Amino acid sequence: MLRFGMLVYVNGKFVPKEEALVSVFDHGYLYGDGIYETLRAYNGKIFLLSKHLARLKLSAEAIGLNLPLTLDKIGDALREALTVNKLREAYMRIQVSRGTGDIGLDPALCPAPSMVIITKPFKDYPEDLYAKGVEVSIVNTRRNHPASLSPSIKSTNFLNNILAKIESLKAGSYEGILLNWEGYVAEGTISNIFHVKKGVLYTPDLKTGILEGVTRDLVMHLARKERIPVKEAQIKPRELADADECFLTNTTVEVLPVTRIDGKDVGAGTPGAITARLMAAYRDEVTKHV
Ligand code: PDD
Repeated sequence: MLRFGMLVYVNGKFVPKEEALVSVFDHGYLYGDGIYETLRAYNGKIFLLSKHLARLKLSAEAIGLNLPLTLDKIGDALREALTVNKLREAYMRIQVSRGTGDIGLDPALCPAPSMVIITKPFKDYPEDLYAKGVEVSIVNTRRNHPASLSPSIKSTNFLNNILAKIESLKAGSYEGILLNWEGYVAEGTISNIFHVKKGVLYTPDLKTGILEGVTRDLVMHLARKERIPVKEAQIKPRELADADECFLTNTTVEVLPVTRIDGKDVGAGTPGAITARLMAAYRDEVTKHV
């Protein structure tokens, strides 16, 4: 049979996306009880796959979820998702939810987790975004307290981020930046944040209560290789506002310059020199691996 459209992996099978369904009794749907990873494939190869798998495992452990397959087998399923869909440049999302069970919070109600892999052709972000940079706004919604729902868990329970996103959309900005419970800069709704002051690269430390981004780790590594001093710290919103340069990172946008914060220019209002170096270093790293 000729198939058009994407095939989605659902619990061991690839099915047309119209048939890719999980139950309304899945606790992922009922309670946001699940975890996920977003990955990107370049030229048919999944970038930093082992890092994403390692984080998926950490997230699973943090919520007491048994992954349905070994990490190796999950890697195989991700690669197969690319092959069956004939994708080389791809966005990929793997999601594991608690599974189908009766109503009630007890995870034991769900005998088996549900695992889904969604892929789509990667649509390049407009070049303009990188050439001009984006505006971010600092939102009122605070990042979850780590003792409440740790931001280090890549959870599908996303209301904290969605409330921040709604605020940033109202403000007309590209990304909302959340502060932590103490008022320090934490992260974006789907990104980590960096800034440069007097040649030093700063990013919120893990104690702030953030997701340890795979891209964040790579960018810090690349910066050190470039002999750019890197400091993980507790960052005040004032320091961000006074930065010479600023950028966001995540798996899909890579390194994205921020040129305005809450209506005020960052530095000269154009992407900075260190940001440009790191954007180039990131692209080089991608080229080396694919
Ligand atoms: N988001 N912080 C948050 C809250 C995120 O959701 C993400 C990623 C990041 C960056 O992580 P990484 O560099 O590993 O992609 C930081 C992905 C892209 C998403 O939600 O689809």
